[in-house]
Amino acid sequence: MSIARKKWLITGASGQLGREWSLALQQDGEDVTSCSRKELDVTDDGQLEDAVGGSRPDVIINCAAYTRVDQAEVDTNQAEAINVHAVKQLARMCAKNRILLVHYSTDYVFPGLPEHRSLLPEGYPESFPPDPVNAYGRTKWLGEQEIRKSNCEHLIIRTSWLCGKHGGNFVQTMLRLARERDHLKVVNDQYGCPTFTGPAVHHSRTLIDSQKRGTIHLASQGVTTWFDFACRIFELKGMDVRLDPVPTSGFPTLAARPKWSRLDIRQLARVTGTRILPWQEELERYLRE
Ligand SMILES: NC(=O)c1ccc[n+]([C@@H]2O[C@H](COP(=O)([O-])OP(=O)(O)OC[C@H]3O[C@@H](n4cnc5c(N)ncnc54)[C@H](OP(=O)(O)O)[C@@H]3O)[C@@H](O)[C@H]2O)c1
Repeated sequence: MSIARKKWLITGASGQLGREWSLALQQDGEDVTSCSRKELDVTDDGQLEDAVGGSRPDVIINCAAYTRVDQAEVDTNQAEAINVHAVKQLARMCAKNRILLVHYSTDYVFPGLPEHRSLLPEGYPESFPPDPVNAYGRTKWLGEQEIRKSNCEHLIIRTSWLCGKHGGNFVQTMLRLARERDHLKVVNDQYGCPTFTGPAVHHSRTLIDSQKRGTIHLASQGVTTWFDFACRIFELKGMDVRLDPVPTSGFPTLAARPKWSRLDIRQLARVTGTRILPWQEELERYLRE
């Protein structure tokens, strides 16, 4: 796209990533229409047509998603409506109106087999064949495929373990639980990497501006487990919390979780030309803010 100044439309604008995107663009004085679910239900084709027709954006940032991983196992129709069918409609509209679609997907599209940890120590590259282990991951993978089929100009950004200033995430859950309980059990055999919404939006904008299209992985640098992540949170907060590491089997959930879900972010570093900061540094900054 060779437009110097873009018009932006953000869906899911009250979620973690949606809020970060809206604030960043508003702060820069950009022409942005931010729609929360109340203002634009992406599963409603009429509302979608009106929103796109009304704001005539150059770029749509799709932050709307069904993100409740366990609930998706039982509420699969709703997860499909938001993560697959609505994405298909969005992509169709973007193709028709020559709009760039920026869409977020997840590390949970990958199988996360324990042996992939030694086979792919840097994480899953963009080219690795997805094979999700739960309903949420399946719907996100199907949504990605709808975008590619539509032939719209697109950028699919897969991210992992997202933490924003606004909305529920692992850091906030840990801090809340530490206030409520004497000691906490945290899973120590699922590996991945936290991503913070501030840098996620910053890198996404660089990718858009550098004309990167297709699929790319975006996370902080490094790898950790939920247990080590929790230890670091309490260490940085100076909180003395008793933490017990537990295997996944000791913490049954409705949805299966990948054991290894690190994303290979070397392409991100190459395309953006920036050093991607380690998750520990990003966490420190996040807690300070
Ligand atoms: N969170 C993570 O750990 C993580 C990890 C990897 C990838 N991702 C991906 O990153 C993206 C952003 O995630 P996030 O953490 O910002 O999610 P989030 O905080 O759950 O936000 C999702 C937003 O989508 C909205 N939404 C749900 N159904 C909608 C509908 N029918 N129409 C319009 N809006 C709707 C939600 O509104 P309500 O709150 O009103 O329902 C919410 O504001 C998603 O694509 C997600 O799959 C997230």
